[in-house]
Amino acid sequence: MSHTCRIELDGQSHEFPTVEGTENELAVDISTLRDRTGYITLDDGYGNTGSCTSAITYIDGDKGILRYRGIPIEQLAEHSTFVETAWLVIWGRLPTQAELDHFSHLLTQHEMMHESLRNHFQGFPPNANPMAILSAMINAVSCYDPEMMQIEDEFTLESAAARLISKVRTIAAASYKMSVGQPMDYPHPEYHYCENFLHMMFSIPYREYVPTPEVARALNLFLILHADHEQNCSTSTVRMVASSQANMFASCAAGVCALWGPLHGGANVAVIEMLEFIRQSGMKVSEYVERVKMKDTKLRLMGFGHRVYKNFDPRSKILKVAADKMLAKLSVNDPLLDIALQMEDAALNDPYFIERKLYPNVDFYSGIILRAMGIPVNMFTVMFAMGRLPGWIANWKEIHDNPKSRIYRPRQIYTGRTLQNYVPMDQR
Ligand code: ACO
Repeated sequence: MSHTCRIELDGQSHEFPTVEGTENELAVDISTLRDRTGYITLDDGYGNTGSCTSAITYIDGDKGILRYRGIPIEQLAEHSTFVETAWLVIWGRLPTQAELDHFSHLLTQHEMMHESLRNHFQGFPPNANPMAILSAMINAVSCYDPEMMQIEDEFTLESAAARLISKVRTIAAASYKMSVGQPMDYPHPEYHYCENFLHMMFSIPYREYVPTPEVARALNLFLILHADHEQNCSTSTVRMVASSQANMFASCAAGVCALWGPLHGGANVAVIEMLEFIRQSGMKVSEYVERVKMKDTKLRLMGFGHRVYKNFDPRSKILKVAADKMLAKLSVNDPLLDIALQMEDAALNDPYFIERKLYPNVDFYSGIILRAMGIPVNMFTVMFAMGRLPGWIANWKEIHDNPKSRIYRPRQIYTGRTLQNYVPMDQR
C-alpha cells in the first residue's frame, strides 16, 4: 500500500514522501521540510523521531517483540552464546563454525592489556566509579592501537571489534579488583568469554575461581539480552559521535557515559537500592508503591516503564525465569527477590501502572541475577556496558559503512532573550 503525507502550512499544501520498514513501520520523511517551508519539527525527547534507518534490531513495543537481525531474543537466549550473538549483531547473520572460531581466537589474542595500560589503574582513587574508569580506559586502549583509529577494511574492523569486546572484559574485572584492593589477575586463554570474566573477577592469588556452568550460562544470558536495543540513549550517543567520523573506541566510550545515568543503564543499580531500602526500612511494598504514585517526590518505581515497551519487556520475562532457576540451583535465598515479586504483583494490579502501561523492564530482574553471581552492585552498569558493546559497534559500523552518512546535527527552537547590548561592568 502506498502512503502520502500532505502538510498544510500557512495556506499552502506540501507533500512529503513516506518510508516503510521491512516490518511495515511507517515514517514521514520530513528532511526537506525546512528548505521548503521554513519550519522544523519539534519533538522534545525524540519520542516520535526516527533518527536513522537501521537493519540491526527490531522492536515492537506494543507486542513485546525484540529481534536481533530478525532472530527472536527468546531463541537466542535459549540456543546462543554471547560471542555468537555479538557476531550476529555486528555482521548481520549467524556465523559459520569457522567464522565463530576465528572471532573467538581474536578475542583470546586481544584479551591482555598492555602492561603500561595496567598502570593507568593506579591513577584512579580506590573508590572511583567503575563506569568512569571504563569510559576513560576505552579511550586509553585506543592510544595503544593507533592503527585501529582509521578503519579502511573488514579485516581491521573485525580486529578492532574483537579488541574492544575482549579488552572491555579485562578492564571491567581489573577495575573491580582495584576497588577491593586485590591484585589484578591475567585472563586465562583456555576459558570462554564469560568464564574468563568470572575468573578475572573472583580468582585470588592463592585460590583459583572456577565458575559453575550455571553461573557462566546465566552471564551469557544476561549479556545476550543486553546486546542491542535499537536507538536507546547510549546507542544514539554512539551514532551521534560516530557521525563526526570519530573512531570506534571514542564513540563507544561516549556510549558508556550515556549508559551511566539512572534512567538508562544505571537503573539496574537503582532497582537493587530500592529493594534494599524496602527490606532495611521494613516498609511494606504497598506503602512504597503508594509513595511513588503520590508524585510529590521524584521517586519512581525503578525497573518499571520503558519509552518503547508498552507491554512486557520480553527480556524481563526471560530474566525472571532465569533468576528463579539460578537461585534454586545455587540454593540462594535472596529476600530481595521476594520483595521484587511482591512489587511486580502490586504494580501490575494497580490502575496507575496499568493506565500508563508501566511493566517491568530488563533492569528489574537483572540485578537479582548479578547479585547471585557475586557481582557487586557498583559493577552492574559496567556489566550492562559489556553486554551492549556489540550493539554499539554494529551501530558505529552502520554509520561508518554508509557512504551517504552525514554528521548528526539536530536543530532547536531558540527560547532565550532577543538581541541585548553588552553592558560594561560599572553599569550593571
Ligand atoms: N514509576 C512511576 N511512574 C512512572 C514510571 C515509574 N518507573 N515511569 C513512568 N512513570 C509515569 C510518569 O510519571 C508519567 O506519568 P504522568 O503521565 O502522570 O506524568 C508517565 O508514567 C509517563 O512517563 P514518562 O517519563 O513520560 O515516560 P518516558 O518514556 O519518558 O520514560 C523511563 C521512560 C525513563 C524508562 C521511565 O519509565 C522511568 O523513569 N523508569 C524508571 C527507570 C528505569 O527503570 N529505567 C530503565 C529503562 S530500561 C533501560 O534503559 C535498559
